[in-house]
Amino acid sequence: MPPPSTLFNLLKHHGEEHLLAHWERLSEEGRSHLKSQLMAIDWHEIAACKKLVEDRHAKKSVTRHHDFENSSTPSCHRLGGQGTASSEALSRGRECLRTAQAGAILMAGGQGTRLGFNGPKGTFPIATISKATLFDVLLGHLHAIKKRFGSRIPIAIMTSAATDTATRTFLTEANFCGLDADQIFFFCQGNLPAVDAATGSLLLDACDHVAVAPDGHGGMFQSLIESGALDWFRQQDCRTLVSFQVDNPLAKPFDPEFLGHHLLSESSLSTQVIPKLDPEERVGVVAESDGVTRIIEYSDLPQNIAAERLLDGRLRFFAGSIGIHAFETEFLEGIASSQARLPLHIAHKKVPFIDKKGRLVQPSAPNAFKFERFIFDVMPLADSVTVVEVDPAEGFAPLKNPPGAAKDSPEIVRQALNAYAIRHLERVGIMVTPGIDVELDAASIFDDEDLHLIAKSGIFPKNHIDGPLIIRAI
Ligand code: UTP
Repeated sequence: MPPPSTLFNLLKHHGEEHLLAHWERLSEEGRSHLKSQLMAIDWHEIAACKKLVEDRHAKKSVTRHHDFENSSTPSCHRLGGQGTASSEALSRGRECLRTAQAGAILMAGGQGTRLGFNGPKGTFPIATISKATLFDVLLGHLHAIKKRFGSRIPIAIMTSAATDTATRTFLTEANFCGLDADQIFFFCQGNLPAVDAATGSLLLDACDHVAVAPDGHGGMFQSLIESGALDWFRQQDCRTLVSFQVDNPLAKPFDPEFLGHHLLSESSLSTQVIPKLDPEERVGVVAESDGVTRIIEYSDLPQNIAAERLLDGRLRFFAGSIGIHAFETEFLEGIASSQARLPLHIAHKKVPFIDKKGRLVQPSAPNAFKFERFIFDVMPLADSVTVVEVDPAEGFAPLKNPPGAAKDSPEIVRQALNAYAIRHLERVGIMVTPGIDVELDAASIFDDEDLHLIAKSGIFPKNHIDGPLIIRAI
C-alpha cells in the first residue's frame, strides 16, 4: 500500500519524501509510528536547523560577536567567605532550606556519548568505595538535608527519550535513592531531528523512525512548563529552583551560602562559576556588558582576549560556568509566556542511520549534525544575575570521558571525591593515612557540621583513619 498522499505531499514539499522509502515493507504498526512522528514535526524548527547547516557549508562563521572592549567579568561572591555578607547569606540560605522554599531540577537527559556507558549517566557507579551511582550521590544530598533541616526538598528530574525509561526503572528499583516517590517529578525534554551532514536531509534510524536527539539542556524551559513540573513546584510554595547536572558528583546546588546570595540579591538568576586558569580551557565564561550578563562560549572567545590577564594575574574572563544555576519561578514563567526561543547550536556527531537498502549503518566518523539549546542562553533575559565563585576542588568534578581518559574520567572524578573527603575530615581533626580511600556518605553528611559531630563522638580512636572507610553521620 503506498503512503497516504497527504503525508507524501507534505514531505515532498519539504524535500523529505525519502523518509517514506521503506513504507511498503512496514507493518501497520510501523506505518502508524512513522506517520505520527512525521506529522508532529515542527517544520519551522527544521528550517532553522537547516539554515545552520547551510551556513556551516557556506563556511559562514557561526561565531557570535561580542563587544569585548566594553565587557568584563561581573563581580563575584566567593563561597566559603568570612565576611558579614557571607554569614548573612549562609543564614538566609539555611532558612530557605529549613522552610523548603527551594526546589531542584536535575538535568539527566544527555546521551553521555563521550562516556560510552551502557545506561543513563546517572546510573554510573562513581563513589570511591560503595560504588554508589551518580543518582545515589546527588539525590542523597536531599536525604541529608531532610536529616539536618527536617525539610523535604522537591526535585524534578529531566530525562529525554534516550534516558527516560531506563532512569525511571533504575530509580524505582533503587527506591528513589531513599527519597519519597512523591518528592520526585519526572519530566522528559523534547527532541530535535538529526540531519545528514552532507545533504542536510533528515535521517531514519529505523525504517519506521526518524533519527532524533535530545534538544539540549536548554530544552528544560519549555518542558518544565509543558509537563506541569513548574506548577508542581508552585503548589509546594517553591519560589526558587536550583538546576544542576547529573555528571558532577561534587555539585553543591544546595549550598546555603549560594542560595543565600541568590535570595538576598533578589536576582532572577544566579550562577556558580569556577576560576578559569588556562586560556586554553574549553569552558564558557560569564561576562557583562551594558548591564547584560551572558555566557561567552569558548569558541566565541578570540585567543588573544582569552589570554588577557588582570592586574592580580587572573584571566580577564575567568568566570568559568559549571552549569549550576538558581532561578526564580516567576522568571521561568516569564520566559515561557514571552515565547522567547533560545538559539539553536549545531554539533557534528556520529548518528546511526538506515541506508537506501534499509540496513542500519553505524558510522565510524561524524556523519550528521545534531541541534541543541543551551540553558545558559536565558542569562541575558534576566534583569539581574548574581555570580558566585566556587573552589573547583569543592564543587566541580565532571564525569565526561571513559576510563583511562586524560581528563574528566571516572578515575579522576574518584580522586577528586577522595581528596574532598580527606580534606574535610582533616578540617575537623580526623586524619587519614596517606593512600587510603575514604568516602563521605552523601545521604547522611550534609556539611562539616556533621563531620564535627563525628569527630567529637570519638568514634575513631585518636581521630585517625587507617583503612578504607565509608563515613556515615551519627
Ligand atoms: P553534556 O553537554 O556534557 O552532554 O551535558 P552529555 O550528554 O552528558 O555528554 P556527551 O556530550 O553526549 O558526551 C551536561 C549535562 O546536561 C545534561 C546532561 O545529562 C548532563 O547532566 N543534558 C545535556 C541534558 O539533560 N539534556 C541534553 O539534551 C543535553
